Amino acid sequence: MTTDIEQRKRDHLNLAQDEALNFSISAGFDRWRFIHNALPELNLSDVDTRTIFLGKELQFPLLISSMSGGVKESFNFNATLASAAEEVGCALALGSIRVALENESVRDSFLIAREKAPTAIIMANLGIAQIMSSQSIDRVATFCDDLKANALIIHLNSLQEAFQPEGDTQFEGALKAIETWVCEFPLPVVIKEVGQGLSLGVIARLKDVGVEIIDIAGAGGSNWISIERERLSDDQVILKQTAEEFANWGEPTAEILENLATDQFVIASGGLKQSLDLAKAIALGANMGGVAGVLLRQALKADTAGLSEVLLVWKRTLEMAMFGVGVRTIDELKGNRSLLHKIG
Ligand SMILES: Cc1cc2nc3c(=O)[nH]c(=O)nc-3n(C[C@H](O)[C@H](O)[C@H](O)COP(=O)(O)O)c2cc1C
Repeated sequence: MTTDIEQRKRDHLNLAQDEALNFSISAGFDRWRFIHNALPELNLSDVDTRTIFLGKELQFPLLISSMSGGVKESFNFNATLASAAEEVGCALALGSIRVALENESVRDSFLIAREKAPTAIIMANLGIAQIMSSQSIDRVATFCDDLKANALIIHLNSLQEAFQPEGDTQFEGALKAIETWVCEFPLPVVIKEVGQGLSLGVIARLKDVGVEIIDIAGAGGSNWISIERERLSDDQVILKQTAEEFANWGEPTAEILENLATDQFVIASGGLKQSLDLAKAIALGANMGGVAGVLLRQALKADTAGLSEVLLVWKRTLEMAMFGVGVRTIDELKGNRSLLHKIG
């Protein structure tokens, strides 16, 4: 029997492919261009895109952001993402494990990821609502152990929940819960949004309670308010019309990066659409980029070769951009605003 959560996951996978439901504002990377350096004083072969994340080496600083798990389709989907991540040497975040914690029969769709990616960084994911209500640290840690996960991501999605008729909108006490989990969970904890973005103020409050790794997940790409609007039935006319007003609600990813100064490890995701956006995100100060929506189609087709090819274009673009501006390492690129020119 299909549960409500499974149906919702299925709706999400289908609707997230529709680019018309993306933000109509951009993440802001188009407002920056690299300044070409005709005298890079290095050889292309010297350019090194490797980086360290969670104590492990990645071939390049990219995360496949959380998408799926827990429905029949997501077995092949996660197998494809994991195989590609292992092949190209990037990190992988799984979709919310809530459904696997509530129903053991769907666990394989998550566990397959570790089977296909024995050495990759794999992160589990859970919503703040579950952290605050139903799930204990021990229970989540046990499943993370089965996954051999390297970290747990907790996602904040207040407005997505608010536009789901069945959503959980109890957010009072969330920061305290984060503080407890960061302190007591046996793996590193990453805090992310889902596309509305972590503002500078929120990032500072997360730092105050000990959060060392954040994923901005800002506006400009997949848009959960518009996706939830599409799932509303016609008799939910008030909520539907309200959702229209919120179609571009959120903090564009590049704008947050532009103004962010923190010693936290920063993953920039949300609206990275072109491979050059990854290089721009790092030059604007991120340690790493993250992508979800742009990989969805290839992953749903279970096209591992095609997906690896897309990811290798992202890696090669980063390499070429580093050669084009004359930097050898990710450390030299990170936060190096002098390499960028702001347009307009
Ligand atoms: C189909 C789909 C499912 C997603 N499921 C989750 C999820 O379970 N947990 C989560 O934290 N984010 C989830 N996200 C949000 C992404 O991880 C990411 O933060 C967001 O889509 C912005 O990145 P993008 O613009 O590259 O798509 C999902 C995104 C997509 C496209």
